Amino acid sequence: MSKNKLLESFKLNPSITLKNRIIMAPLTRCFADNDLAPNELTADYYTRRADTGLIITEATIVNKSGQGYPNTPGIFSQKQIAKWKIVTDRVHQNRGKIFCQLWHVGRVSHPSYLDGNLPVAPSAVELTGRVPRTKYEYGTPRALETDEVYAIVDDFKKASLNAIKAGFDGVEIHGANGYLLDQFIHQHTNLRTDEFGGSLEARAKFTLDIVDQIIEAIGADKVGIRLSPGAYVNQENTKGDEDTYAYILEKLNEKKIAYVHTGIFDDSSSFDYLGGTSTSFLRKHFRGNVIASGSYKGTSAADAINDGKFDLIAVGRDIIANPDYVTKITNNEKLTEYNQSMLTELY
Ligand SMILES: Cc1cc2nc3c(=O)[nH]c(=O)nc-3n(C[C@H](O)[C@H](O)[C@H](O)COP(=O)(O)O)c2cc1C
Repeated sequence: MSKNKLLESFKLNPSITLKNRIIMAPLTRCFADNDLAPNELTADYYTRRADTGLIITEATIVNKSGQGYPNTPGIFSQKQIAKWKIVTDRVHQNRGKIFCQLWHVGRVSHPSYLDGNLPVAPSAVELTGRVPRTKYEYGTPRALETDEVYAIVDDFKKASLNAIKAGFDGVEIHGANGYLLDQFIHQHTNLRTDEFGGSLEARAKFTLDIVDQIIEAIGADKVGIRLSPGAYVNQENTKGDEDTYAYILEKLNEKKIAYVHTGIFDDSSSFDYLGGTSTSFLRKHFRGNVIASGSYKGTSAADAINDGKFDLIAVGRDIIANPDYVTKITNNEKLTEYNQSMLTELY
């Protein structure tokens, strides 16, 4: 199969056409300044990758209680908006497109990032383990009050409006990888008895409310969402969670958003409860555009797109290692291999 399938342009919806099917996956890099704003280096880093069909930024927090790692950017202050505008202008000058990934980590945090306060979550369910590359141990979060849940929904909406002010072409809601939306979806982490827990529809409500509010604010064409139906990090599957995902995807079909995106590190992993891979589950239940991600190489992604398994491919580690990824795919050149030491520099 020809790799050129990846290089074809792709009409995401009536208002957005991508120049190829290669998406830069969201990649947390921890290089924001102490006001959690991006800088010139961030602009250079994304501009180098503007020949991808779409850049999805590193996860960007919607409020201060959403932080769980050092120096991750936000999109809730005037300074952050102004600094992101420099990034989006540079990407646009280089004919790129860029979505902002909107994030709240929920319980995957530590008081040291939260002015000494406990992380917040749907319920007080302990997370064990350590914040990567730090000495901090996770712990038991504080359960959100119902009005605080609505306030966070509103913060997501405000963040989407801020993203448009900052010049982004759209936003991706981070519903994946065990963070706050995922914590509401899963029975294991959601023991609530208000309107946000207790039934499948109630566990889906936080995610769907955020989607609805953001659509109302900026329009469905500008909204994507990342989901992890296969629980694989900081999350446990309970029988029945797959039905909540199927329900969410069914509802998303009606909303005509830009895409649904798989959150997983290796998409060859098959899950009994999904009846296959995470992406095959999204494809089965969602009738719009599907972005796959997770250890794909140029050829394996092109073959899968040809077979109709998904529409677009998000590439993470190989794009950290190869800012010129699209050129290399175009010319059939060998890729530089990724290794973790590359994370110490924002090249
Ligand atoms: C250093 C690093 C940071 C990441 N940060 C994010 C993130 O901010 N948001 C997110 O949804 N996924 C994040 N991911 C997951 C990637 O988007 C991607 O799904 C994963 O790396 C698998 O794709 P790959 O095999 O092409 O790297 C991160 C992965 C890595 C390696």
